[in-house]
Amino acid sequence: MSTEPATKPFVAIEAVHFGYGEEATVDRIDWAIPRGAFHCLVGRSGCGKTTLLKLAAGLLLPQEGCVRIGGAVLTGPGERIGFVFQQPTLLDWLSVLDNVLLPLSLKRGLRSEDREKAHALLDLVSLGDYAQRYPWQLSGGQQSRVAVARALITEPDLLLLDEPFAALDALTREELQDDLLALCAHHATTVLFVTHDIGEAVYLADRVAIMAAGRLHHEMAVDLPRPRGRELRYGQPFNALCRELRRAMDAAS
Ligand SMILES: Nc1ncnc2c1ncn2[C@@H]1O[C@H](COP(=O)(O)OP(=O)(O)OP(=O)(O)O)[C@@H](O)[C@H]1O
Ligand SMILES: [Mg+2]
Repeated sequence: MSTEPATKPFVAIEAVHFGYGEEATVDRIDWAIPRGAFHCLVGRSGCGKTTLLKLAAGLLLPQEGCVRIGGAVLTGPGERIGFVFQQPTLLDWLSVLDNVLLPLSLKRGLRSEDREKAHALLDLVSLGDYAQRYPWQLSGGQQSRVAVARALITEPDLLLLDEPFAALDALTREELQDDLLALCAHHATTVLFVTHDIGEAVYLADRVAIMAAGRLHHEMAVDLPRPRGRELRYGQPFNALCRELRRAMDAAS
């Protein structure tokens, strides 16, 4: 249950500044995500998206400013945060099933219902028949799907995804977008999703921000109805928002 007042965001990125060297990679960024909202971050390669996501997860700590989750300042890797990395980062010596179960098995002994849940998640990402395979026996896209299932096994309050569907073909990507939206709506998960793909951002998000050279340049609300479906992608409102985002990206770079 949430204890913070409804007006306070669940995720608050407050004047966050970070550089790997002298130069700022994330340059005093402010951003707020309400509980249960789905926000997307788009930007060109190298603009700092992954770095910002790692700061939001507490995997990196800001050199100035802070990140608050549910009002509390992050001082290390956040509890109840799921992270899908840009590379699937599966463990080659564990089966697909055991990779999905890993976040639970690192914390405590496994229960039989955990295995049922992992199988259900694998079914959901169309890998029900692959549970006993090993990561090196999967295609790149299948590995990405295992990584999504692994991030969802703990039912995180906050899910951070770094271009999770970039390696997938367009049809599979659309199916997984729908699955992700359904799952996050069902669990009221708060999401920050990084992508290069303008259409993907508009389809998924309540709000999209454009990042360029370590800063946020443009924020856009996406007032398309939910639940979203395939037909939406061919409609005028969807395409108008994609055009607006594309123009804003061109202006930012
Ligand atoms: N560990 C690191 N040490 C030094 N520099 C880094 C490190 N990680 C990233 N960088 C640099 O910081 C900048 C931002 O990197 P980041 O990975 O956040 O970009 P990105 O927007 O996620 O790019 P992409 O879309 O290609 O994934 C890049 O110039 C990158 O070279
Ligand atoms: Mg990246």
